[in-house]
Amino acid sequence: MATTGKLAVLGSINADHILNLAAFPRPGETLKGENYQVAFGGKGANQAVAAGRAGANIAFIACVGDDDTGERVRHQLQQDNIDIAPISAVAGEATGVALIFVNGEGENVIGIYAGANAALTPAYISSVQQVIGEADALLMQLESPLESVIAAAEIARAQNTQVILNPAPACPLPDALLAMIDVITPNETEAEALTGIRVDSDENAALAAQALHDKGIGRVLITLGSRGVWLSEQGVGQRIAGFKVKAVDTIAAGDTFNGALITALLEKQPMIQAVRFAHAAAAIAVTRAGAQPSVPWRHEIDAFLSSQG
Ligand code: RIB
Repeated sequence: MATTGKLAVLGSINADHILNLAAFPRPGETLKGENYQVAFGGKGANQAVAAGRAGANIAFIACVGDDDTGERVRHQLQQDNIDIAPISAVAGEATGVALIFVNGEGENVIGIYAGANAALTPAYISSVQQVIGEADALLMQLESPLESVIAAAEIARAQNTQVILNPAPACPLPDALLAMIDVITPNETEAEALTGIRVDSDENAALAAQALHDKGIGRVLITLGSRGVWLSEQGVGQRIAGFKVKAVDTIAAGDTFNGALITALLEKQPMIQAVRFAHAAAAIAVTRAGAQPSVPWRHEIDAFLSSQG
């Protein structure tokens, strides 16, 4: 493996309560579930785990509650090759929670309670600025307070640390933040929320990518679910197909893609190869249930890629 640059991930940690049902309940309806599981999740933690298991040199900036879940999550993250020193256990707070329904098609709907994730304030970011400054890249999402994401991006810019934003869940963002981002990785819904352009074809993906370039972002990767990814670098775009697998659930597929992608880029893999690596990691993740339990290790990604020829 090539020399790996340092990565800082900033984001959320949740305990995911996952219920599988044949179909999503409608308003006012109660349905019996077929399987219930509690597993570690949170977009930030999932991306950190994906990077750690893929072989990145990674530190994770986050907050948990001072509860049993927070203690167990931190222990697990350490097992996943992650420097957990910048994770704070917040007194009197509960670790974040996600309530997830998965239907028979493997689709999901998610509601989250921030809990300790709300304590990831700009003041806390300032206390860990050295971690950001020492990193070659900073990967963030939007389950943390927006003002903290902005504060972290400002520190990263000032310290020549690359900023990668996975703008999930979808929310409108100020131009000042977009102008500080080097790589952005929205899905179709998030790209539409940011640009107003419905990403329902390659042509429209190119238009949405251009709108994001116009905000000052050099590299845009719009994830298109089973259709792959629209990659646009400085306005030159192409679609890179993913791998076909039978999906059990898609929880954390995007997170796995992001963590694996940045790991490959920090190893100086060329962009198209890095996308293929990330596609492979995500393909494995969708064949397994849950968020972090589904995230593959490096040897599994390498074996999957070899099996594809
Ligand atoms: O992206 C998947 C994640 O979203 C889940 O693990 C859940 O915690 C929510 O944050």
